[in-house]
Amino acid sequence: MEQEAYAGPLSGRHLVLGLSGGIACYKAAEFCRALVKAGASVQVVMTPSACQFITPVTLQALSGRTVFTDAWDAREGNSMAHINLSRQADAIVVAPASADFMARLLHGRADDLLSLMCLARPLGRVPLLLAPAMNREMYAHPATQRNLEQLRADGARVLGVGAGDQACGETGDGRMLEPQELLEEVVAFFTPKVLAGQRVVVTAGPTYEAIDPVRGITNLSSGKMGFALAQAAWRAGAQVTLVAGPVSLPTPRGVQRVDVQSAQAMWQATEPLAAQASVFIAAAAVADWRPAQVAGQKIKKTADGQAPALEFVQNTDILASIARSDRARSGQLYCVGFAAESQDLLNQAREKRVRKGVPLLVGNLGPQTFGRDDNALIVVDAAGSEELPRASKAALATRLIERIALELKKAAS
Ligand code: CTP
Repeated sequence: MEQEAYAGPLSGRHLVLGLSGGIACYKAAEFCRALVKAGASVQVVMTPSACQFITPVTLQALSGRTVFTDAWDAREGNSMAHINLSRQADAIVVAPASADFMARLLHGRADDLLSLMCLARPLGRVPLLLAPAMNREMYAHPATQRNLEQLRADGARVLGVGAGDQACGETGDGRMLEPQELLEEVVAFFTPKVLAGQRVVVTAGPTYEAIDPVRGITNLSSGKMGFALAQAAWRAGAQVTLVAGPVSLPTPRGVQRVDVQSAQAMWQATEPLAAQASVFIAAAAVADWRPAQVAGQKIKKTADGQAPALEFVQNTDILASIARSDRARSGQLYCVGFAAESQDLLNQAREKRVRKGVPLLVGNLGPQTFGRDDNALIVVDAAGSEELPRASKAALATRLIERIALELKKAAS
């Protein structure tokens, strides 16, 4: 169980990673490594052109399996590598997919092992994911655009392209997505879309309450749990907005991010978003108080050694206020709260759930979990509680999103 909780998001998946010829082959090496790190087993298949850019030895070392490059490879007992390899795969991912390779796919050509495999794969069982990579003029060419459209119609999933500087020195669309972006797309592809059609708003991180232009009050929240929840919700098919306090985490793929500093700014950003949402998850560690006055200039020490007397006012409780709204009360908005406690977690979490007026509250013991990549949670609802044992925050976020989806389903039936 513990083992499973730590397993990567692609654990148990077997992928064929196909490389066709293009300079983006150098990124495919990193992508292969990312797939393996995420728990997948990876069989690499390369076209002869791909072997001009990067050697099979590199991919063999990274995948831990000998690479196939030739339809006539004698290693397969029945001499049918194209059948055997494609039957074992949960998906074939071609990264990079060159313009030429896609043109050949489109016509059902089978003149190298990779295109032969794509053609021979059982259509209903082995999905094909393509990560195009080419010069911007090649990408924009009507032939390529036509081919992409037809490949989609034939059932392939096209994994976007990036924009920006290209190896040829030009700038534009056509760059292969970065390895981490590709990984995120593949993980999302395999994630059941239990939040399809839902609009999710997540608050995350600490807030910063200014005292003067150079000082303020904040806390040790890293934002990792909230960011992981936003990511898991996007993977599950939701449209996600993340309202983030001051943290230096990268924005999860597919997620819209609004950066704020203070609790007041977080409230002002979150309230209108929640008014359009169907799920609100309050994972932020919002400051309960802010200084009553923010000094316009830096507060200086005084000769008499007196410390400044700071007065505080209470911030709006974002979660409690939104949970009291008509939309939340009528069941159009499902609210989830968090509680970081230092003791007596279950009772505190139960009490906080009622006080905040939310159907679901997630408790954890802080502050030792702040900043860590793992955590252990307790989920409390009106009926009881469920413990989620120690696991990565990403794995816990996936579990929580599944639980929220289940609650939404129950409420709708
Ligand atoms: N929360 C919020 N706005 C605030 C304070 C808290 O939205 N101004 C949310 C947090 O995001 C979290 C939940 O309320 O989901 C609980 O936060 P916590 O700080 O643990 O609770 P408090 O209300 O501050 O309770 P206490 O200080 O008594 O522990």
